[in-house]
Amino acid sequence: MASEDLAGALAAVLGGQGLRVQNCDSGPAGEPPAPVRLRKNVCYVVLAVFLNEQDEVLLIQEAKRECRGSWYLPAGRMEPGETIVEALQREVKEEAGLHCEPVTLLLVEERGPSWIRFVFLARPTGGILKTSKEADAESLQAAWYPRISLPTPLRAHDILHLVELAARYRQQARHPLILPQELPCSVVCQRLVATFTNVQTVWVLVGTVGMPHLPITACGFTPMEQRGGIKVAVLRLLQECLTLHNLAVETKGLLGLQHLGKEHTDGICLNVLVTVAFRNPGIQDEPPKVLGENYSWWKVMEGDLQTQLLQKLQESSVVPLNR
Ligand SMILES: *[C@@H]1O[C@H](CO)[C@@H](O)[C@H](O)[C@H]1NC(C)=O
Repeated sequence: MASEDLAGALAAVLGGQGLRVQNCDSGPAGEPPAPVRLRKNVCYVVLAVFLNEQDEVLLIQEAKRECRGSWYLPAGRMEPGETIVEALQREVKEEAGLHCEPVTLLLVEERGPSWIRFVFLARPTGGILKTSKEADAESLQAAWYPRISLPTPLRAHDILHLVELAARYRQQARHPLILPQELPCSVVCQRLVATFTNVQTVWVLVGTVGMPHLPITACGFTPMEQRGGIKVAVLRLLQECLTLHNLAVETKGLLGLQHLGKEHTDGICLNVLVTVAFRNPGIQDEPPKVLGENYSWWKVMEGDLQTQLLQKLQESSVVPLNR
């Protein structure tokens, strides 16, 4: 059943290019997932880490009353109608005076589907650093500080970890450059590359309703899904076709990110790499039995795809996804 389409789809997702979202295979119980809207039921935040040749980090000094005078990385909420990159460029311009381009996504953080933050490594492409003379409601000023001696007070200490992540990525890139793909989507969802491996063989879970495809699960906004985070939606889909109690399921991270933000499509599709394994590693050398007829395991025979997939799994060469 390994159709060419399926191999093409897997290649596109592994390569970070993404694929249009057609239907969701799994959704929150009851009704079809409602389209999401920025400022109504979802909030996306963009954040940029800049590191220069002198190992300095670009920081901005906050102007907002509740944190006035403290330092933070350039960051802010996305506005309706913007792409993720447009939002990043707007925030950096407003807060630091610089034009920029993203280099790669470094991290995606979530607190359920209604709050997601996209952390980028970015580089300046022009503009003039904002000084205290240009202080306004967006920020008081921007400045470069040595990475190992950041100013105080910081608005929050979470940026220490982000700066560290950027420095490590620059020293040794664990994943390829990954940038958002501009593809429309109306819900917050995840496309699964759910794998089972046995030595040199990889199986990928496939949805079989309609054309065989990589399954997609829509995130719900129930209190349980908010609390448990977006991995709940992954488990929900897997629960529909596997007996999970003897299995270990892990989301390794992101292969790619899809969003457009135009024409009232505020949804996001995260292409995630997931591993399914037996809790009791024993002699099971076949993937766990699939229940029902809506999913099946596809044994990836295409040599290059198999190699790529095994390598990504071994090296965890994906963008981390944190709660
Ligand atoms: C399989 O998919 C069909 C069509 O979407 C659906 O009606 C049916 O309930 C699904 N079966 C199971 C076992 O989930």
